Amino acid sequence: MPIFLDTADLNEIKRFHSMGVIRGVTTNPTIFLKQGISGGGMKALENRSKEIGTLIAPLPLSVEVTTNDRNRAVEQAVTFAGWSENIVVKVTVHGPEGELENLELIHELESKHNIRVNVTAMMSAQQCLLAALAGATYVSIFAGRVNDMGYNACVEIAKLRGLLDKLDLKSQIIAGSTRETLNVIEWLEAGAHIVTVLPHLLEKMLVHPYTKETVQMFLRDAEKAYSMLQE
Ligand code: E4P
Repeated sequence: MPIFLDTADLNEIKRFHSMGVIRGVTTNPTIFLKQGISGGGMKALENRSKEIGTLIAPLPLSVEVTTNDRNRAVEQAVTFAGWSENIVVKVTVHGPEGELENLELIHELESKHNIRVNVTAMMSAQQCLLAALAGATYVSIFAGRVNDMGYNACVEIAKLRGLLDKLDLKSQIIAGSTRETLNVIEWLEAGAHIVTVLPHLLEKMLVHPYTKETVQMFLRDAEKAYSMLQE
């Protein structure tokens, strides 16, 4: 399942889902804010998540918990998972000050509540390995941010994939925070199971200036050839 769409924009999701090229959708609070889905409290999040969930079912939709409080996070995770069968709950690997409780939360959601978890905001293979050991269905490495920090995300992804396979861990690697079209193929080649892609990059993957020129030539020549045939 190589490509997920990293957006909460319904039109973009509809567009690429109807082409059959995406295998899931990922969101986070920043994406919702940028999309203008703010105000209206949790109801706004619920409504849009249900709309996306229904639109892409049975493909997975990741929705992130909005609190660092352990009990409220469990409550939210259970609530989100109840919105639609295909919802995967996103949890950051640790808290804003490096608090460690999230791994316990991830393990509890997967093992006791039967909720699929996407562990997010990870910048290294070692963080992803711990999340995988805790039982996460998906481990998200923010590969674009890894590159931004001056490290090579491909090296981290390859290291991680090697370890997951060797240890027979079931977690799927999602490489996120795409910055360039090139990232999609290079991160998949490095070993990511999935790359989550911004809509404008997916469009850039598809449209090529030389393809445009070639299609224009075919259409021009078809017009000439058919008119000649009709004469
Ligand atoms: C992945 O699941 C995240 O939603 C996303 O790719 C983060 O991207 P950013 O680094 O551009 O915020």
